[in-house]
Amino acid sequence: MQEASDFSVKILDFEVLDSTNTYAKDHIGSLEDGVLVSAKTQTAGRGRNGRSWVSPGNEENLYCSFVMKRITDPFRATVVSSLAVLSLLKEHAPQADLFIKWPNDVFAGGEKICGTLCECAAVTEHSPLSVIAGMGINVNTSREELDKIPQKAASLRSLTGRSFERKKLLGKLAENLARYYINYIGDPEKVFLRWKEQNRVLGKCVELEESSGKKRTVLVKDIVQDGRLLCVEGGKEFLFSSGDVRLVKNPGLFGK
Ligand code: BTN
Repeated sequence: MQEASDFSVKILDFEVLDSTNTYAKDHIGSLEDGVLVSAKTQTAGRGRNGRSWVSPGNEENLYCSFVMKRITDPFRATVVSSLAVLSLLKEHAPQADLFIKWPNDVFAGGEKICGTLCECAAVTEHSPLSVIAGMGINVNTSREELDKIPQKAASLRSLTGRSFERKKLLGKLAENLARYYINYIGDPEKVFLRWKEQNRVLGKCVELEESSGKKRTVLVKDIVQDGRLLCVEGGKEFLFSSGDVRLVKNPGLFGK
C-alpha cells in the first residue's frame, strides 16, 4: 500500500485563469495524477448548479483544483477534498466551529467558508475518467466584503482577525490533499466514515430544497455509500441526492 509520505502533490500556480476546474478539464491528458492547479484570480470561476464563483485577486482567497486519476466518482472526490480543506481550516482557526455541510461545503458556524465543485474529466469520450475537485476557500476577505455576498460567508481572516499568506496555505492544502487521497485509496471505508462524522446533518432535522424549488422538512437518518441522504418524512424513508439542505433551528417536528 502506498504511504502518503511517498506521494507529493505538484502545484501549478497561475496568476490568472478563467477557472482552475476548466483548465484542469481541458488539460486532463497532460496533467499527472495528484496535480493541484491554482490561480490567484479567476475570470470565470464556476460554482454548483451553474452559479458563478466570484474570484477576486490581491491574495484574497484560494482557488484551486486537485486532479485525481485513481478515483472516478465525483462524490468520492468531495470526501477527499472537503476533509483536506476542513483539516487546513481547523489548523489555522482552531477556535472556530468548523464542519462539513452536506454535500460539499465547509461552514464556520452558520457561515460558508469553502465551496467545492467536483467534476469528471476524460481526454476523449472513451478514455478513462478522472475527477477534479475544485475548491474555493475564503482566506483574507474582509467582513465588509463578505457582507456583500448574498449567502452568509466567513473567511479565515473574519474568524481569526489576522491575514494569511496564500502560498503557505496552498502548500499546506497540497499536503492535506495528498494525505487524504492516499489514505482514501488505501482504505476508502475508513475515510468515508471520517467524512460522515464531520457532517452536521446526521440525526438532524433539515429543510431540503429540491432542484425544482420544492421544500420539505425531514430527519436525516444516514448518509449512504454513494453520498445520498437517507431521510425520514412522515414515517417513510427515502433517498435524497441533489439540492440544498438547511439545518432547522427548532426541530420540534421530530421531538429531538
Ligand atoms: C460552490 O458553488 O459552492 C462551489 C464553488 C467552487 C469554486 C471553486 S474555485 C476553484 C474551482 N474553479 C472553479 O471554477 N470553481 C472551483
